[in-house]
Amino acid sequence: MAAKPAGQRARRLVVLVSGSGTNLQALLDEIAATGAEAYGAGVVAVGADREGIEGLARAERAGLPTFVRKVKDYPTREEWDAALAEAVAAYEPDLVVSAGFMKIVGKEFLARFGGRFVNTHPALLPSFPGAHGVRDALAYGAKVTGCTVHFVDDGVDTGPIIAQGVVEIRDEDDESALHERIKEVERRLLVEVVGRLARNGYRIEGRKVVIQ
Ligand code: GAR
Repeated sequence: MAAKPAGQRARRLVVLVSGSGTNLQALLDEIAATGAEAYGAGVVAVGADREGIEGLARAERAGLPTFVRKVKDYPTREEWDAALAEAVAAYEPDLVVSAGFMKIVGKEFLARFGGRFVNTHPALLPSFPGAHGVRDALAYGAKVTGCTVHFVDDGVDTGPIIAQGVVEIRDEDDESALHERIKEVERRLLVEVVGRLARNGYRIEGRKVVIQ
C-alpha cells in the first residue's frame, strides 16, 4: 500500500471481533482523540462471527455499522468465508484488522484481502500460535511472551510479522492475569502499527514487512 499523501482521505478500516473488543476500543479512542485524518485511518464498520458480544456493543456505541456472519448459518465453511468476504468488501476497506477474531478465514477471503489483512496474536510468534497462545506459553514454562501484529496468510498465525511487544511471565501468573498484561502492551502496539501502516504505506518482501 502506498503512503497516504497529506490531505488525502483517511484509510478505511474494517475491524473483525469475537469477544470483548478492547483492541477495537483502543483504535476507536485513538482515532477519536487524534482525528481520522491525522491518525491516517478511520473505522468504517465492525464485523463478528457471533452476536451478543461486547465488541459489537462498542461499535454500536460509536455509531458504526456492524455485521455478523456465523459459520453455522452456512452449509459449508467455504460459503461462510465467501459471505464474510462479501460483507467486508461492501465497506471497501484499505485494511482489515482481526482484533480478537477467533476464526480462520479461507481462500476467498484471502484472495480479496491478502496483504492487507492484519491480525494481533497474544504470543511471540512463531511460538504458541493458535487459539490458546497465552495458556500455551504459560504451560510451556516460557519466561517471556508478548504479542505479535502480523499479516494473515493461509497458515495459522504464520504470516509476515509487522511488530512485536514483549511481556515477562511472573511465577504467580495465571492465564487471565498474564493475558491482561499482554493486552495492555497489545493495544498500544496495534494502535501504533495500524496508524503507521495507514500513514506511511508499506510493502511485503517475502517474510519482511517494510513500513515506508
Ligand atoms: C487479544 O489478546 C488477541 O490477541 C486475542 O484475543 C484477544 C482479544 O481481546 N486473539 C487471539 O487469541 C487470536 N488467536 P479483545 O477482544 O479485548 O480485543
